[in-house]
Amino acid sequence: MRFDTIIRNGTVVTASDSFICDVGIRDGRIVALAADLTDADEIIDATGLFVLPGGIDSHVHLDQPSGDGIVMADDFDSGTRSAAVGGNSTVLAFCMQEKGQSLRQALNVYHAKAEGKCHVDVSFHLVITDPTPDVLGQELPALVEDGYTSLKVFMTYEGLRLRDDEILATLDTARRTGALVMVHCENEDAIRYLIGRHEEEGRLAPKFHATTRPIAAEREATHRALSLAEIVDVPIVIVHVSNREAMEEIRRARQRGQTVAGETCPQYLMLTAEDLDQTEMEGAKFVCSPPPRDKASQEACWEGLEQGVFDLFSSDHCPFRFDDVEGKLNDKGKRHFRWIPNGIPGVATRLPILFSEGVMKGRIDINRFVALTSTNHAKLYGLYPRKGTIAIGSDADIALWDAGLKVTLTNDMLQHGADYTPYEGLAVTGWPVRLLLRGKTIVENGDLLPGGDRQGGYVPREKSSLVR
Ligand code: URP
Ligand code: ZN
Ligand code: ZN
Repeated sequence: MRFDTIIRNGTVVTASDSFICDVGIRDGRIVALAADLTDADEIIDATGLFVLPGGIDSHVHLDQPSGDGIVMADDFDSGTRSAAVGGNSTVLAFCMQEKGQSLRQALNVYHAKAEGKCHVDVSFHLVITDPTPDVLGQELPALVEDGYTSLKVFMTYEGLRLRDDEILATLDTARRTGALVMVHCENEDAIRYLIGRHEEEGRLAPKFHATTRPIAAEREATHRALSLAEIVDVPIVIVHVSNREAMEEIRRARQRGQTVAGETCPQYLMLTAEDLDQTEMEGAKFVCSPPPRDKASQEACWEGLEQGVFDLFSSDHCPFRFDDVEGKLNDKGKRHFRWIPNGIPGVATRLPILFSEGVMKGRIDINRFVALTSTNHAKLYGLYPRKGTIAIGSDADIALWDAGLKVTLTNDMLQHGADYTPYEGLAVTGWPVRLLLRGKTIVENGDLLPGGDRQGGYVPREKSSLVR
């Protein structure tokens, strides 16, 4: 058998097994896993390296409108470039419905934003902000059939949040159509009340973003989202969980028999609310929602990753420039935390942080790493087994990892559009030294190869393993 490429003598890792073998690739797919493969146009020596499925980051915000005069720092070009540099071969971005807009119109806008720009494969979650009878009754069922099989709803953010009856109607449509709903769980009314109190007291610095979004507001909304899903009997994903109390809600719902997936993110392992409490507006760099909590919450999130409460480790990459009037330091944001755009960059740092802090420090094994960063994303969002594993017939989306390589994170190496990383100076061990997208090397030694850029495309998806 002749191959286009053979990856020779690496340690192939899936969510369940690790074994040394060669990987034979033809026409962008894996066609052989065996010892001593020969006869290929290209032979890549992977001796001493891990051969992992490319990362799939299922929670990435790119080129979204973000309020008056605020511009997201990454479009589909820079965002997917950064994703590739960080070892990801697929990202799931959000297609945000504007009020009054049909979902088809919204998708046309996001397909146009992505067209011809992507360096890795891309698919879209639909964000439902205007669940009219037409959207839920006509559009969504047709779009699910067309491969848009997941959606997100917000319980917070004025203008985006849905009321409980709207969430129920959306969940019910998801049940009927087989879509999977991701829920951002924070109690908007409580947050608005607390912002009002902070305003009366003149507490407007970035650190007060965290005190107006307390754990109880996330825990309550998580409980409510799970209860609403129970009422209409549908699986859901609780995204970006930041603390033990919200996490325990997921555990309890499972004990009641509900089907729930849980997601956490690097910021909840690595940052705390103290990072928001700095001079010279520096804290604005860390403003995201839910906010980072405390050391105990970090430990709880690690426990959730180790014990399987969390199925997904995603970045929630939502980048804004710091020193920029269109970013964190916009005029209103300098005077009041509520105008600091929410979100931090992280698509390139997600995998190295979990590898270094999780695998290298013995908290999780390499197979769990693959599950949390690739395989489970593929299964939950309808890409498996085409993506998310190393198996015969799967796309040859492969990251070669040097587990011993020590790297100090700096903003420049991440190649995103933001002018900072929250993890500047963090020393990590382990780095993706080469990335193949559908059999073609697109990144080597930290850079996109000249002929390897803009190879990404849109991927339609099957239904989630949770709803099938
Ligand atoms: O602060 C965050 N996480 N911004 C992104 C939007 C979201 O809620 O996921
Ligand atoms: Zn969210
Ligand atoms: Zn998000």
